[in-house]
Amino acid sequence: MEVVIVPDAKAGGELIAEAMAALLRRKPDALLGVATGSTPLPVYEALARKVRAGEVDASRARVCQLDEYVGLPAGHPESYRATVLREVVEPLGLPEASFMGPDGSAEDLPAACEGYDRALAEAGGVDLQLLGIGTDGHIGFNEPCSSLASRTRIKTLTQQTRVDNARFFDGDLEQVPHHVITQGIGTILDARHLVLLATGEGKAEAVAQTVEGPLSALVPASALQLHRHATVVVDEAAASKLKLADYFRHTYANKPSWQGL
Ligand code: PGA
Repeated sequence: MEVVIVPDAKAGGELIAEAMAALLRRKPDALLGVATGSTPLPVYEALARKVRAGEVDASRARVCQLDEYVGLPAGHPESYRATVLREVVEPLGLPEASFMGPDGSAEDLPAACEGYDRALAEAGGVDLQLLGIGTDGHIGFNEPCSSLASRTRIKTLTQQTRVDNARFFDGDLEQVPHHVITQGIGTILDARHLVLLATGEGKAEAVAQTVEGPLSALVPASALQLHRHATVVVDEAAASKLKLADYFRHTYANKPSWQGL
């Protein structure tokens, strides 16, 4: 996998937004898989800036969601549907119809999960999937010991993830749902290009294990090692535990100009 070390989160956001813009110039109706959480915000801000500046036409872009809480009332501001609409779809000026995600309030959740996997395939598959990483190494909400072949399904959050996410619920752990729907690791690996962004020292250990550790169910993000086109973008703090950081810097600095990102 390719590791790109950037000075800070803003530079990471700019780099990935440019990769998305380049994809949209090649394929105007590309399906962009987006992630929630704090980390990807600089990406969405940079991409929206490019759209406003006329550097890229995103009007035909399609957007899909990685995961969703189960049981939040429809329209809850912290549901991932509401979050992606607010942070991605609206700033890019896209119609709501361009957006797809799993229904966390469906009566038949397993059917909703299966239906979402089917819908992604029928849409032609995800062209670029942006990922964050949990401090416990999760991608999407695939917590440690998720099957590396898993498909979209219901998962139970670890206590660590609920504590990490309580800040989105006024710091009240009680409000953080226990269950989620998440694209499986196998589903995520179906995307044509995976781009994981990690910033801050709190992610350094998970990043080192993802990039340099063994392929392990304990670190779901290590499944990126199985993908033919995975890019890991990290700031200096998140790169601080990489043994091969100098090699990654050298490789990127000497990258052939025809290669993207
Ligand atoms: P964060 O979440 O970007 O808010 O740190 C990442 C994740 O849990 O995948």
